Amino acid sequence: MAIKTIIEPFRIKAVEPIRMTTPAERQAKIREAFYNVFLLHADDVLIDLLTDSGTGAMSSEQWAAVMRGDESYAGSRSYYRFEQSVKRLFPFKHIIPTHQGRAAERILFSVMCRPGHIVPNNAHFDTTRANIEYRGARAVDLPCRESHETGAPHPFKGNMDLEALERLLAAEGRAAVPLVLLTITNNSGGGQPVAMANVRQVSEICHRYGVPLYIDACRFAENAYFIKQREPGYENRSVAEIAQEFLSYADGCTMSAKKDGLANIGGFLATNDEDLSRQEKDLLILTEGYPTYGGLAGRDLEAIATGLEEVVHEDYLQYRIVSTEYLGRHISGEGVPIVQPPGGHAIYIDAAAFLPHVEPLRYPGIALAVEFYLEAGIRAVEIGSVMFGQHDRESGEETPAEHELLRLAIPRRVYTQSHIDYVVEAILEVWKRRERIGGYRITYQAPFLRHFTARFEPLGS
Ligand code: F0G
Repeated sequence: MAIKTIIEPFRIKAVEPIRMTTPAERQAKIREAFYNVFLLHADDVLIDLLTDSGTGAMSSEQWAAVMRGDESYAGSRSYYRFEQSVKRLFPFKHIIPTHQGRAAERILFSVMCRPGHIVPNNAHFDTTRANIEYRGARAVDLPCRESHETGAPHPFKGNMDLEALERLLAAEGRAAVPLVLLTITNNSGGGQPVAMANVRQVSEICHRYGVPLYIDACRFAENAYFIKQREPGYENRSVAEIAQEFLSYADGCTMSAKKDGLANIGGFLATNDEDLSRQEKDLLILTEGYPTYGGLAGRDLEAIATGLEEVVHEDYLQYRIVSTEYLGRHISGEGVPIVQPPGGHAIYIDAAAFLPHVEPLRYPGIALAVEFYLEAGIRAVEIGSVMFGQHDRESGEETPAEHELLRLAIPRRVYTQSHIDYVVEAILEVWKRRERIGGYRITYQAPFLRHFTARFEPLGS
Protein backbone atom coordinates (compact mmCIF):
# COMPACT_ATOMS: atom_id res chain seq x y z
CA MET A 1 0.00 0.00 0.00
CA ALA A 2 1.36 3.43 -0.90
CA ILE A 3 2.07 5.89 1.92
CA LYS A 4 -0.46 8.72 1.86
CA THR A 5 1.29 11.34 4.04
CA ILE A 6 2.70 14.13 1.93
CA ILE A 7 5.96 15.39 3.44
CA GLU A 8 8.22 18.38 2.93
CA PRO A 9 10.41 17.02 0.10
CA PHE A 10 13.64 18.33 1.63
CA ARG A 11 15.64 18.17 4.82
CA ILE A 12 17.00 21.19 6.63
CA LYS A 13 20.67 22.14 6.41
CA ALA A 14 20.73 25.62 7.95
CA VAL A 15 18.30 26.94 10.54
CA GLU A 16 17.32 30.46 11.45
CA PRO A 17 15.99 30.99 14.99
CA ILE A 18 12.72 32.88 15.38
CA ARG A 19 12.02 35.01 18.41
CA MET A 20 9.11 34.51 20.78
CA THR A 21 7.48 37.64 22.18
CA THR A 22 4.98 38.16 25.00
CA PRO A 23 1.46 39.54 24.46
CA ALA A 24 2.50 42.71 26.33
CA GLU A 25 5.49 43.22 24.03
CA ARG A 26 3.29 42.73 20.97
CA GLN A 27 0.77 45.26 22.28
CA ALA A 28 3.55 47.84 22.51
CA LYS A 29 5.11 46.93 19.15
CA ILE A 30 1.88 47.13 17.16
CA ARG A 31 1.00 50.47 18.76
CA GLU A 32 4.46 51.81 17.86
CA ALA A 33 3.86 50.52 14.29
CA PHE A 34 0.61 52.55 14.09
CA TYR A 35 -1.32 49.27 13.74
CA ASN A 36 0.23 48.71 10.29
CA VAL A 37 2.05 45.35 10.19
CA PHE A 38 4.32 46.63 7.37
CA LEU A 39 5.85 48.98 9.96
CA LEU A 40 6.80 46.20 12.43
CA HIS A 41 10.39 45.06 12.76
CA ALA A 42 10.53 41.54 11.32
CA ASP A 43 12.41 40.40 14.45
CA ASP A 44 9.24 41.04 16.42
CA VAL A 45 7.27 38.65 14.17
CA LEU A 46 7.17 34.93 14.93
CA ILE A 47 5.55 33.47 11.80
CA ASP A 48 5.77 35.86 8.88
CA LEU A 49 2.98 35.31 6.34
CA LEU A 50 3.12 38.87 5.01
CA THR A 51 4.22 37.68 1.59
CA ASP A 52 5.56 34.74 -0.40
CA SER A 53 7.75 37.18 -2.33
CA GLY A 54 11.50 36.87 -1.89
CA THR A 55 10.95 35.08 1.41
CA GLY A 56 11.61 31.50 0.27
CA ALA A 57 14.48 29.28 1.34
CA MET A 58 17.09 28.58 -1.33
CA SER A 59 18.31 25.04 -1.91
CA SER A 60 21.89 23.82 -1.46
CA GLU A 61 22.16 23.78 -5.29
CA GLN A 62 21.13 27.44 -5.42
CA TRP A 63 23.70 28.39 -2.79
CA ALA A 64 26.33 26.47 -4.75
CA ALA A 65 25.27 28.35 -7.91
CA VAL A 66 25.64 31.63 -6.01
CA MET A 67 29.33 30.84 -5.57
CA ARG A 68 29.62 30.30 -9.32
CA GLY A 69 28.18 33.74 -10.09
CA ASP A 70 30.16 35.64 -12.71
CA GLU A 71 30.17 39.32 -11.77
CA SER A 72 31.38 40.62 -15.15
CA TYR A 73 29.63 43.86 -16.07
CA ALA A 74 28.82 42.86 -19.65
CA GLY A 75 28.26 39.42 -21.16
CA SER A 76 28.52 37.55 -17.86
CA ARG A 77 28.44 33.75 -18.04
CA SER A 78 25.71 33.85 -15.39
CA TYR A 79 23.50 35.90 -17.71
CA TYR A 80 23.73 33.27 -20.44
CA ARG A 81 22.91 30.53 -17.99
CA PHE A 82 19.95 32.59 -16.72
CA GLU A 83 18.72 33.24 -20.25
CA GLN A 84 18.94 29.59 -21.17
CA SER A 85 17.08 28.51 -18.03
CA VAL A 86 14.33 31.10 -18.62
CA LYS A 87 13.95 30.15 -22.29
CA ARG A 88 13.51 26.47 -21.42
CA LEU A 89 10.16 27.40 -19.86
CA PHE A 90 9.32 30.82 -21.30
CA PRO A 91 9.21 30.61 -25.10
CA PHE A 92 9.98 34.30 -25.81
CA LYS A 93 12.67 35.77 -28.07
CA HIS A 94 13.98 38.55 -25.82
CA ILE A 95 14.63 38.11 -22.09
CA ILE A 96 15.48 41.25 -20.12
CA PRO A 97 16.58 40.80 -16.48
CA THR A 98 15.25 43.28 -13.90
CA HIS A 99 15.77 43.63 -10.16
CA GLN A 100 12.18 42.49 -9.49
CA GLY A 101 8.73 42.24 -11.07
CA ARG A 102 7.67 45.85 -10.70
CA ALA A 103 10.77 47.07 -12.58
CA ALA A 104 9.68 44.90 -15.51
CA GLU A 105 6.19 46.40 -15.19
CA ARG A 106 7.44 49.96 -15.10
CA ILE A 107 9.56 49.45 -18.22
CA LEU A 108 6.78 47.63 -20.09
CA PHE A 109 4.16 50.28 -19.33
CA SER A 110 6.57 53.16 -20.01
CA VAL A 111 7.09 51.79 -23.50
CA MET A 112 3.50 50.72 -24.24
CA CYS A 113 1.11 53.01 -22.31
CA ARG A 114 0.07 56.63 -22.76
CA PRO A 115 -2.35 58.77 -20.75
CA GLY A 116 -5.94 57.69 -21.48
CA HIS A 117 -5.01 54.12 -22.38
CA ILE A 118 -6.86 51.18 -20.80
CA VAL A 119 -5.10 48.01 -19.61
CA PRO A 120 -7.41 45.09 -18.80
CA ASN A 121 -6.34 42.19 -16.58
CA ASN A 122 -8.16 39.34 -14.81
CA ALA A 123 -7.10 41.17 -11.62
CA HIS A 124 -4.26 43.66 -11.36
CA PHE A 125 -2.02 43.35 -8.33
CA ASP A 126 -1.10 46.50 -6.40
CA THR A 127 2.19 47.40 -8.08
CA THR A 128 0.85 46.58 -11.54
CA ARG A 129 -2.17 48.81 -11.08
CA ALA A 130 -0.01 51.59 -9.59
CA ASN A 131 2.53 51.46 -12.44
CA ILE A 132 -0.27 51.69 -15.03
CA GLU A 133 -1.97 54.57 -13.21
CA TYR A 134 1.38 56.31 -12.81
CA ARG A 135 1.55 56.43 -16.64
CA GLY A 136 -1.88 58.11 -16.71
CA ALA A 137 -3.52 54.95 -18.06
CA ARG A 138 -6.46 53.08 -16.51
CA ALA A 139 -6.15 49.60 -15.01
CA VAL A 140 -9.37 47.61 -15.45
CA ASP A 141 -10.12 44.29 -13.73
CA LEU A 142 -12.19 41.74 -15.65
CA PRO A 143 -12.42 38.75 -13.28
CA CYS A 144 -14.73 35.87 -14.18
CA ARG A 145 -18.19 35.80 -12.65
CA GLU A 146 -17.38 32.90 -10.30
CA SER A 147 -14.76 35.02 -8.52
CA HIS A 148 -17.31 37.40 -7.03
CA GLU A 149 -18.57 34.95 -4.43
CA THR A 150 -15.64 34.24 -2.12
CA GLY A 151 -17.04 31.10 -0.48
CA ALA A 152 -18.15 29.26 -3.65
CA PRO A 153 -15.55 26.83 -5.03
CA HIS A 154 -14.67 26.69 -8.73
CA PRO A 155 -11.55 25.07 -10.21
CA PHE A 156 -10.42 28.15 -12.19
CA LYS A 157 -11.61 31.21 -10.35
CA GLY A 158 -8.64 33.16 -11.73
CA ASN A 159 -10.12 33.14 -15.25
CA MET A 160 -10.76 36.36 -17.13
CA ASP A 161 -14.35 37.21 -18.08
CA LEU A 162 -14.20 36.61 -21.84
CA GLU A 163 -17.43 38.42 -22.67
CA ALA A 164 -16.33 41.49 -20.75
CA LEU A 165 -12.98 41.47 -22.58
CA GLU A 166 -14.68 41.15 -25.96
CA ARG A 167 -17.09 43.99 -25.07
CA LEU A 168 -14.27 46.25 -23.92
CA LEU A 169 -12.16 45.62 -27.02
CA ALA A 170 -15.16 46.09 -29.33
CA ALA A 171 -16.05 49.39 -27.65
CA GLU A 172 -12.56 50.84 -27.20
CA GLY A 173 -10.58 49.19 -29.97
CA ARG A 174 -6.91 48.68 -30.43
CA ALA A 175 -6.03 52.36 -30.26
CA ALA A 176 -7.12 52.65 -26.64
CA VAL A 177 -5.90 49.26 -25.42
CA PRO A 178 -2.14 48.87 -25.92
CA LEU A 179 -1.99 45.44 -24.26
CA VAL A 180 -4.00 42.96 -22.21
CA LEU A 181 -2.52 41.33 -19.11
CA LEU A 182 -3.37 38.00 -17.53
CA THR A 183 -2.13 37.39 -13.98
CA ILE A 184 -1.26 33.77 -13.30
CA THR A 185 -2.30 32.87 -10.59
CA ASN A 186 -4.49 35.87 -9.74
CA ASN A 187 -3.00 37.28 -6.57
CA SER A 188 -5.64 39.85 -5.62
CA GLY A 189 -8.53 37.42 -6.11
CA GLY A 190 -7.38 34.55 -3.91
CA GLY A 191 -4.32 32.98 -5.58
CA GLN A 192 -6.70 31.23 -7.97
CA PRO A 193 -5.49 29.61 -11.19
CA VAL A 194 -6.35 30.47 -14.79
CA ALA A 195 -7.37 27.54 -17.02
CA MET A 196 -5.47 26.69 -20.18
CA ALA A 197 -8.72 27.09 -22.10
CA ASN A 198 -9.12 30.61 -20.72
CA VAL A 199 -5.57 31.64 -21.69
CA ARG A 200 -6.18 30.27 -25.17
CA GLN A 201 -9.48 32.14 -25.54
CA VAL A 202 -8.12 35.40 -24.12
CA SER A 203 -5.24 35.13 -26.59
CA GLU A 204 -7.63 34.45 -29.48
CA ILE A 205 -9.76 37.51 -28.62
CA CYS A 206 -6.74 39.80 -28.16
CA HIS A 207 -5.17 38.76 -31.43
CA ARG A 208 -8.46 39.16 -33.31
CA TYR A 209 -8.32 42.82 -32.25
CA GLY A 210 -4.59 43.10 -32.91
CA VAL A 211 -3.82 43.67 -29.21
CA PRO A 212 -0.80 41.90 -27.66
CA LEU A 213 -1.28 39.66 -24.62
CA TYR A 214 1.22 39.70 -21.75
CA ILE A 215 1.23 37.27 -18.87
CA ASP A 216 2.12 38.33 -15.34
CA ALA A 217 3.85 35.03 -14.69
CA CYS A 218 4.98 35.34 -11.02
CA ARG A 219 3.30 32.08 -9.97
CA PHE A 220 3.36 30.23 -13.30
CA ALA A 221 4.47 26.90 -11.81
CA GLU A 222 1.65 26.82 -9.25
CA ASN A 223 -0.81 27.69 -12.03
CA ALA A 224 0.58 24.91 -14.24
CA TYR A 225 0.28 22.39 -11.39
CA PHE A 226 -3.38 23.35 -10.84
CA ILE A 227 -4.03 22.82 -14.58
CA LYS A 228 -2.44 19.39 -14.34
CA GLN A 229 -4.66 18.54 -11.36
CA ARG A 230 -7.91 20.09 -12.56
CA GLU A 231 -8.14 20.51 -16.33
CA PRO A 232 -9.08 17.44 -18.37
CA GLY A 233 -6.45 16.50 -20.93
CA TYR A 234 -3.46 17.73 -18.91
CA GLU A 235 -3.15 15.01 -16.29
CA ASN A 236 -0.30 13.30 -18.13
CA ARG A 237 1.58 16.40 -19.27
CA SER A 238 4.57 17.68 -17.29
CA VAL A 239 4.27 20.98 -15.41
CA ALA A 240 7.04 22.40 -17.61
CA GLU A 241 5.13 21.48 -20.80
CA ILE A 242 1.92 22.99 -19.43
CA ALA A 243 3.71 26.25 -18.55
CA GLN A 244 5.34 26.38 -22.00
CA GLU A 245 1.94 25.92 -23.60
CA PHE A 246 0.13 28.74 -21.78
CA LEU A 247 3.08 31.10 -22.16
CA SER A 248 3.15 30.32 -25.90
CA TYR A 249 -0.28 31.97 -26.25
CA ALA A 250 1.19 35.30 -25.09
CA ASP A 251 3.40 37.87 -26.78
CA GLY A 252 5.50 38.46 -23.70
CA CYS A 253 5.48 38.39 -19.93
CA THR A 254 6.55 40.11 -16.76
CA MET A 255 8.01 37.96 -14.02
CA SER A 256 8.95 38.37 -10.39
CA ALA A 257 11.54 35.66 -9.73
CA LYS A 258 10.90 36.30 -6.01
CA LYS A 259 7.93 33.95 -6.29
CA ASP A 260 8.18 30.95 -8.61
CA GLY A 261 11.82 31.78 -9.42
CA LEU A 262 12.56 30.52 -5.86
CA ALA A 263 14.98 33.44 -5.46
CA ASN A 264 15.20 36.22 -2.90
CA ILE A 265 15.45 38.94 -5.55
CA GLY A 266 15.10 39.28 -9.31
CA GLY A 267 12.72 39.26 -12.21
CA PHE A 268 12.52 39.72 -15.95
CA LEU A 269 10.58 41.12 -18.84
CA ALA A 270 10.13 39.02 -21.96
CA THR A 271 8.79 39.83 -25.40
CA ASN A 272 8.75 38.54 -28.95
CA ASP A 273 8.76 42.08 -30.35
CA GLU A 274 12.26 43.09 -31.43
CA ASP A 275 11.51 46.80 -31.70
CA LEU A 276 9.90 46.92 -28.24
CA SER A 277 12.77 44.95 -26.74
CA ARG A 278 15.21 47.58 -28.01
CA GLN A 279 13.25 50.41 -26.41
CA GLU A 280 12.93 48.38 -23.20
CA LYS A 281 16.67 47.76 -23.03
CA ASP A 282 17.31 51.49 -23.45
CA LEU A 283 15.10 52.21 -20.45
CA LEU A 284 16.69 49.35 -18.54
CA ILE A 285 20.13 50.91 -18.91
CA LEU A 286 18.79 54.20 -17.60
CA THR A 287 17.71 52.91 -14.18
CA GLU A 288 18.30 49.16 -13.79
CA GLY A 289 21.60 48.39 -15.47
CA TYR A 290 23.21 46.86 -18.53
CA PRO A 291 20.98 44.27 -20.31
CA THR A 292 23.07 41.29 -19.20
CA TYR A 293 22.50 41.98 -15.51
CA GLY A 294 19.51 44.39 -15.23
CA GLY A 295 20.12 45.50 -11.64
CA LEU A 296 21.07 42.04 -10.38
CA ALA A 297 24.39 40.54 -9.35
CA GLY A 298 25.67 37.60 -11.40
CA ARG A 299 25.05 35.39 -8.34
CA ASP A 300 21.37 36.43 -8.32
CA LEU A 301 21.04 35.38 -11.96
CA GLU A 302 22.53 31.99 -11.00
CA ALA A 303 20.07 31.57 -8.10
CA ILE A 304 17.15 32.26 -10.46
CA ALA A 305 18.49 29.92 -13.16
CA THR A 306 18.63 27.06 -10.63
CA GLY A 307 15.34 28.11 -8.98
CA LEU A 308 13.48 27.85 -12.29
CA GLU A 309 14.79 24.30 -12.71
CA GLU A 310 13.64 23.31 -9.22
CA VAL A 311 10.22 24.98 -9.17
CA VAL A 312 8.72 22.70 -11.80
CA HIS A 313 9.58 19.52 -9.84
CA GLU A 314 6.26 17.91 -9.16
CA ASP A 315 7.05 16.60 -5.68
CA TYR A 316 7.86 20.19 -4.69
CA LEU A 317 4.63 21.51 -6.23
CA GLN A 318 2.54 18.76 -4.68
CA TYR A 319 3.92 19.62 -1.22
CA ARG A 320 3.45 23.32 -1.91
CA ILE A 321 -0.18 23.14 -3.00
CA VAL A 322 -1.18 20.51 -0.44
CA SER A 323 0.40 22.35 2.49
CA THR A 324 -1.38 25.61 1.61
CA GLU A 325 -4.62 23.66 1.29
CA TYR A 326 -3.97 22.07 4.71
CA LEU A 327 -4.07 25.49 6.38
CA GLY A 328 -7.26 26.42 4.50
CA ARG A 329 -9.02 23.18 5.30
CA HIS A 330 -8.22 23.28 9.01
CA ILE A 331 -9.54 26.78 9.56
CA SER A 332 -12.52 26.62 7.20
CA GLY A 333 -13.51 23.29 8.80
CA GLU A 334 -14.10 25.22 12.04
CA GLY A 335 -16.20 27.86 10.28
CA VAL A 336 -13.59 30.52 9.41
CA PRO A 337 -14.73 32.05 6.08
CA ILE A 338 -12.03 31.83 3.40
CA VAL A 339 -11.86 32.26 -0.36
CA GLN A 340 -12.69 28.81 -1.71
CA PRO A 341 -10.97 26.80 -2.93
CA PRO A 342 -7.61 27.51 -1.18
CA GLY A 343 -5.13 29.34 -3.40
CA GLY A 344 -1.67 28.18 -4.43
CA HIS A 345 0.54 30.54 -2.47
CA ALA A 346 -1.84 31.79 0.21
CA ILE A 347 -5.07 31.43 2.14
CA TYR A 348 -7.35 34.45 1.95
CA ILE A 349 -9.65 34.95 4.90
CA ASP A 350 -12.87 36.81 4.12
CA ALA A 351 -12.48 39.50 6.79
CA ALA A 352 -15.88 41.05 6.02
CA ALA A 353 -17.56 37.72 6.80
CA PHE A 354 -15.26 37.06 9.80
CA LEU A 355 -16.12 40.49 11.30
CA PRO A 356 -19.58 41.30 9.86
CA HIS A 357 -20.08 44.03 12.47
CA VAL A 358 -17.02 46.00 11.15
CA GLU A 359 -17.94 48.04 8.06
CA PRO A 360 -15.63 47.90 5.00
CA LEU A 361 -14.37 51.43 5.59
CA ARG A 362 -13.58 50.52 9.18
CA TYR A 363 -11.09 48.09 7.61
CA PRO A 364 -11.93 44.58 8.91
CA GLY A 365 -8.79 43.22 7.18
CA ILE A 366 -6.58 45.57 9.19
CA ALA A 367 -8.46 44.67 12.38
CA LEU A 368 -7.84 40.95 11.81
CA ALA A 369 -4.17 41.51 10.88
CA VAL A 370 -3.68 43.29 14.22
CA GLU A 371 -5.46 40.51 16.14
CA PHE A 372 -3.39 37.70 14.56
CA TYR A 373 -0.25 39.58 15.51
CA LEU A 374 -1.45 40.20 19.06
CA GLU A 375 -2.65 36.62 19.50
CA ALA A 376 0.44 34.80 18.30
CA GLY A 377 2.99 37.04 16.55
CA ILE A 378 1.65 36.08 13.10
CA ARG A 379 1.91 38.66 10.33
CA ALA A 380 -0.55 38.67 7.40
CA VAL A 381 -1.59 41.34 4.89
CA GLU A 382 -4.87 43.11 4.21
CA ILE A 383 -6.08 42.86 0.62
CA GLY A 384 -9.17 45.00 0.88
CA SER A 385 -10.20 48.63 0.98
CA VAL A 386 -6.86 49.91 2.27
CA MET A 387 -4.99 48.27 -0.61
CA PHE A 388 -7.61 48.54 -3.35
CA GLY A 389 -10.31 51.01 -2.25
CA GLN A 390 -10.62 54.27 -4.18
CA HIS A 391 -9.90 57.41 -2.24
CA ASP A 392 -10.23 60.95 -3.51
CA ARG A 393 -7.48 63.08 -1.98
CA GLU A 394 -9.42 66.32 -2.38
CA SER A 395 -12.84 65.40 -1.05
CA GLY A 396 -11.56 62.62 1.22
CA GLU A 397 -14.31 60.42 -0.23
CA GLU A 398 -13.66 56.68 -0.15
CA THR A 399 -15.17 53.76 -2.06
CA PRO A 400 -14.54 50.31 -0.62
CA ALA A 401 -12.91 47.46 -2.57
CA GLU A 402 -15.05 44.56 -3.78
CA HIS A 403 -13.76 42.22 -1.05
CA GLU A 404 -12.19 42.66 2.39
CA LEU A 405 -9.58 39.90 2.54
CA LEU A 406 -6.69 39.05 4.82
CA ARG A 407 -4.00 37.09 3.02
CA LEU A 408 -1.84 34.51 4.78
CA ALA A 409 0.93 33.98 2.22
CA ILE A 410 3.16 30.95 2.67
CA PRO A 411 6.89 31.47 2.01
CA ARG A 412 8.32 28.65 -0.12
CA ARG A 413 10.16 25.82 1.72
CA VAL A 414 10.40 27.84 4.97
CA TYR A 415 7.82 26.69 7.52
CA THR A 416 7.03 23.14 8.61
CA GLN A 417 3.70 21.55 9.36
CA SER A 418 3.98 22.35 13.10
CA HIS A 419 4.36 26.04 12.27
CA ILE A 420 1.16 25.78 10.26
CA ASP A 421 -0.59 23.92 13.11
CA TYR A 422 0.37 26.82 15.38
CA VAL A 423 -1.14 29.28 12.88
CA VAL A 424 -4.36 27.24 12.73
CA GLU A 425 -4.66 27.23 16.52
CA ALA A 426 -4.05 30.99 16.74
CA ILE A 427 -6.63 31.79 14.06
CA LEU A 428 -9.23 29.65 15.82
CA GLU A 429 -8.55 31.50 19.09
CA VAL A 430 -9.22 34.83 17.35
CA TRP A 431 -12.31 33.32 15.70
CA LYS A 432 -13.74 32.52 19.16
CA ARG A 433 -13.49 36.14 20.29
CA ARG A 434 -14.43 37.78 16.97
CA GLU A 435 -17.45 39.62 18.32
CA ARG A 436 -15.24 41.74 20.56
CA ILE A 437 -12.98 42.99 17.72
CA GLY A 438 -13.55 46.56 16.48
CA GLY A 439 -12.55 48.63 13.45
CA TYR A 440 -9.90 51.24 12.61
CA ARG A 441 -9.52 54.66 11.07
CA ILE A 442 -6.65 56.01 8.96
CA THR A 443 -4.61 58.85 10.47
CA TYR A 444 -2.02 59.17 7.66
CA GLN A 445 -1.87 57.96 4.05
CA ALA A 446 0.44 58.35 1.03
CA PRO A 447 -0.99 59.35 -2.40
CA PHE A 448 -0.44 55.90 -3.93
CA LEU A 449 0.24 52.37 -2.63
CA ARG A 450 -0.96 53.73 0.70
CA HIS A 451 -1.15 50.33 2.42
CA PHE A 452 2.63 50.16 2.82
CA THR A 453 2.94 53.24 5.00
CA ALA A 454 -0.57 54.15 6.23
CA ARG A 455 -1.07 54.76 9.95
CA PHE A 456 -4.16 53.59 11.83
CA GLU A 457 -5.92 54.14 15.11
CA PRO A 458 -8.45 51.79 16.74
CA LEU A 459 -11.94 53.29 16.75
CA GLY A 460 -13.06 54.35 20.16
CA SER A 461 -9.47 54.95 21.30
N1 F0G B 1 2.56 40.82 -10.05
C1 F0G B 1 2.02 40.07 -9.08
C2 F0G B 1 0.85 39.19 -9.39
C3 F0G B 1 2.56 40.10 -7.78
O1 F0G B 1 2.03 39.33 -6.85
C4 F0G B 1 3.67 40.93 -7.52
C5 F0G B 1 4.24 41.02 -6.19
C6 F0G B 1 4.22 41.68 -8.57
C7 F0G B 1 3.63 41.60 -9.82
C8 F0G B 1 5.42 42.58 -8.37
O2 F0G B 1 6.58 41.84 -8.22
O3 F0G B 1 7.34 42.36 -5.88
O4 F0G B 1 8.92 41.44 -7.58
O5 F0G B 1 8.12 43.76 -7.76
N2 F0G B 1 3.64 40.59 -5.18
C9 F0G B 1 4.15 40.53 -3.83
C10 F0G B 1 3.07 40.02 -2.92
C11 F0G B 1 4.82 41.75 -3.34
O6 F0G B 1 3.21 40.13 -1.69
O7 F0G B 1 2.11 39.43 -3.42
P1 F0G B 1 7.81 42.38 -7.32
